[in-house]
Amino acid sequence: MLKLLESMKKSPSYVASGQKVVVRQLGRQDLKRIKRWFANLELVSLAFGLQGDASTLQRIADDYYREIFWWQKNALAIDTLSGECIGFMKYTIREDHEMHAKVGILIGERPYWEHGYGTEAMQMLLRYLFENLKVDRVELDTAEFNTRAQRSFEKCGFRKLGAFAEVNHHDGRSAQKIWMSMDRAEYERVCLP
Ligand SMILES: CC(C)(COP(=O)(O)OP(=O)(O)OC[C@H]1O[C@@H](n2cnc3c(N)ncnc32)[C@H](O)[C@@H]1OP(=O)(O)O)[C@@H](O)C(=O)NCCC(=O)NCCS
Repeated sequence: MLKLLESMKKSPSYVASGQKVVVRQLGRQDLKRIKRWFANLELVSLAFGLQGDASTLQRIADDYYREIFWWQKNALAIDTLSGECIGFMKYTIREDHEMHAKVGILIGERPYWEHGYGTEAMQMLLRYLFENLKVDRVELDTAEFNTRAQRSFEKCGFRKLGAFAEVNHHDGRSAQKIWMSMDRAEYERVCLP
């Protein structure tokens, strides 16, 4: 619990620069942009790994937007080097016998897909989580149909651990998800020079 409180205290001032992106604490100034991204239902479907009808996807996006609106902690904006916000990442930390982080990412500006921005941002988040917050493992899930995301996560060093069906409580439909993970030893082997 103490570690978790410390990690929450550390996050607001975080800023890091890479070759393509700057990662920083998400702020209220970013919310308008996120709302615009969440009006794009193709993006919502990819981001949440669901293929419901338009009203279901919109409800999911609205719920998530409300969460981000009230709770921007543990959310990092992704900016280009020229300062345009193109996406964001979110993480939650759970502590039992180990510290686990569950992460998610969305590049909301489509022209920036498939140019390495998302992969670099995720690599920076991994560095932050393993090195600053000292987590033992980072996990995520993504839709089975989201092969672009799977490829990007594999490039970061995530390993596929399995598949599962997740039931969407909004419409009862089930979606096939892929669960991916990286532990500290894998991070040190794959990501450190
Ligand atoms: C997923 C995401 C974060 C990846 O970031 P990115 O900057 O686009 O990723 P990159 O350009 O580094 O890598 C994408 C890789 O997927 C490959 N790719 C593209 N389309 C693909 C497809 N349909 N199937 C498989 N691989 C695909 C690219 O060729 C590239 O691999 P390569 O470098 O070996 O050629 C970003 O595209 C995004 O946010 N998309 C929309 C929302 C989303 O899907 N979020 C993830 C939810 S879990």
